[in-house]
Amino acid sequence: MRIVKGDITKLAVDAIVNAANQLMLGGGGVDGAIHRAAGKELFNACLKVPEARPGVRCPTGEARITPGFKLPAKFVIHTVGPVYRDGQHGEPEKLANCYRNSLALAAENGCKSIAFPCISTGVYGYPIEDAAKIAVRETEAFLKTHDIDVVFCCFLEYDARIFEKLLQGVK
Ligand code: APR
Repeated sequence: MRIVKGDITKLAVDAIVNAANQLMLGGGGVDGAIHRAAGKELFNACLKVPEARPGVRCPTGEARITPGFKLPAKFVIHTVGPVYRDGQHGEPEKLANCYRNSLALAAENGCKSIAFPCISTGVYGYPIEDAAKIAVRETEAFLKTHDIDVVFCCFLEYDARIFEKLLQGVK
């Protein structure tokens, strides 16, 4: 596990994870950046992902994979984090599922490296301190049985420091 500060769309890893919404047709934040960098074909590929129910291509906590198109990354793994309310409405479990399902999907597709943004900690309001603990815990558990290079791509300096403190504890 390692930390990179900056723009996830620039990372030449096998898969970058997108913090999407359930409709999976783009948005703001990292979702917007990834769609802009990948180009129109990404939108078209997302449109082809079957709806689990009307208006929902990717239910919260699940993950879907598409090619990366114009991105340096081969794949985009779209996952939908929980909207944070108070931590008492299943948010921790749903966020943990985002990491578990994205890692599993990356492994199923033969990815040797994957980069995560700080899922749910922007528009969805998840406190970075709690979200980062879940990200590191789930990744550590996965790495007990899998070999994949995991990058936590932090756009914000503050977020990078939170992850750095956690990873010091893990080593
Ligand atoms: N590279 C890496 N991280 C980024 C980038 C980028 N280019 N742009 C933003 N981020 C970071 C934000 O700083 C935040 O730490 O991604 C993290 C997640 O924030 P959001 O993108 O707001 O995602 P989220 O909180 O999961 O909310 C998802 O926002 O954009 C919409 O369509 C999206 O409805 C969905 C919701």
